[in-house]
Amino acid sequence: MKKTYIVSGIFIIFFLILTVACNKVGKKEYSPEYVFTYAENHSNDYPTTMGAFEFARLVEEKTNGRIIILVEANGKLGDEESVLEQLEMGGIDFTRVSISPLSGYVKKLNVLQMPYIYESNEHMWKVLNGEIGKAFIEDMKGSGFIALSWYEAGARNFYNSKKEIHRLEDMKDLRIRVQQSELMKDMVRLLGAVAVPMSFGDVYSALETNIIDGAENNWPSYESTNHYEVSKYYTLDEHSRIPELQLCSEVTWNKLSDDDKAIILECAISSSEYEKKIWKEREELSKSKVKEAGCVITELSIREKNRFRQAMEPLYNEYCYEYMDIVKEIISMSE
Ligand code: GCU
Repeated sequence: MKKTYIVSGIFIIFFLILTVACNKVGKKEYSPEYVFTYAENHSNDYPTTMGAFEFARLVEEKTNGRIIILVEANGKLGDEESVLEQLEMGGIDFTRVSISPLSGYVKKLNVLQMPYIYESNEHMWKVLNGEIGKAFIEDMKGSGFIALSWYEAGARNFYNSKKEIHRLEDMKDLRIRVQQSELMKDMVRLLGAVAVPMSFGDVYSALETNIIDGAENNWPSYESTNHYEVSKYYTLDEHSRIPELQLCSEVTWNKLSDDDKAIILECAISSSEYEKKIWKEREELSKSKVKEAGCVITELSIREKNRFRQAMEPLYNEYCYEYMDIVKEIISMSE
């Protein structure tokens, strides 16, 4: 009996030493060759940030800790405009942005964020996952940014602190915050409102102090930023679906081996699948949270939604005249 205890004791000690030794070896392997930064302007529990964490986790796993990506959320590394400037110079390695500010660099991207260009979420994903989406990703090469994968960002709606919007005329003279994009400014002007371009992080206090009357965004952004607390009228006009992109700085990209590039691309695509899935859940959660808080949600009649759509139509001539063939192809893919 005693002998058995001694043998098991020796065995356990041997096992422990082996475990510690293995950990040490593991730790030795864990010496990163690259530590990269990733900028995200949403909070830690927002779907795109969770997608970024998943991306970083996968890259670390697949490179055995050789590539570490540090995700900095909450706009800690700056607003989207300054993050793009830094990314272009290689000061920040990765980010996820709305294509609105990116269209200042790559004009053609405007096509993908035109008001009412997609009939539904499925339509948008058919375009992004198909030849058109692939060509856009390819065309980004040489722009300073390498596009890795598309991210979901739902449909955007107008909201304001003054009144319910039932008709196009109700938009008149409302001061609406827009993203830093010419297209977005013109879009709001065509509705008879006043466009106020401003960084995303400044919108809450601008609403609170009445510098602006409203803004426009998807359900999760309206909720996660607490804009709903200071702007309770949310109108379901669904004027745009603005895809988002995970980007790598071209400066960073050029330092990587072909194998590492392939790993990063693969992980970015997997993280986008994950983000799409949790996006749906968050959208539902955000809807119920703002409804419970007493926000007034207004459905537009079909007639009025069409009037919004028609009012924005001149934007196509202005922003897409060089790309009408792509616009037509996108529209034909709605069936
Ligand atoms: C969305 C998007 C952000 C963007 C914001 C905006 O929330 O995810 O990346 O900054 O819209 O309206 O600026």
